Amino acid sequence: MLEIELNGAKHRLDVDPAVPLLWVLRDSLGLKGTKFGCGAGLCGACTVHVDGAAVRSCVYSVGQAVGSKITSIEGLGESGEHPVQAAWREAGVPQCGYCQPGMIMAAAALLKNNPSPSDDEIAQGVTNICRCGTYNRIRKAIRSAAE
Ligand code: FES
Repeated sequence: MLEIELNGAKHRLDVDPAVPLLWVLRDSLGLKGTKFGCGAGLCGACTVHVDGAAVRSCVYSVGQAVGSKITSIEGLGESGEHPVQAAWREAGVPQCGYCQPGMIMAAAALLKNNPSPSDDEIAQGVTNICRCGTYNRIRKAIRSAAE
């Protein structure tokens, strides 16, 4: 049995500490906003925050998250919408949408540490992959959320 803190609530779980956090979120807790893409830490579809830092939850065990504050896309905005989500909506970023929760989590973590990132800093800070190629709109939304 282990306990994690997710989106401000504590959860006691009967899971192997070695299980990736991604599967605990999706399968044990039913939170499907965090996506599975590559399963190898490469694409970023599974990005969540652990103590405010962007983490790829497919290669991060639930045991590593014990004692930290985890935030998934479902808990990002205090009133249901985070400023980054609002900027995303305004810029019409998604195409298929699959990678976007991870993108938003990566962008929110970047902006928390660097409220006014340059294009280079955005490129270095958000390395998630979008197969639809929405990168220009992602940059636009990040710049607009930064204002
Ligand atoms: Fe985790 Fe691709 S699914 S990085």
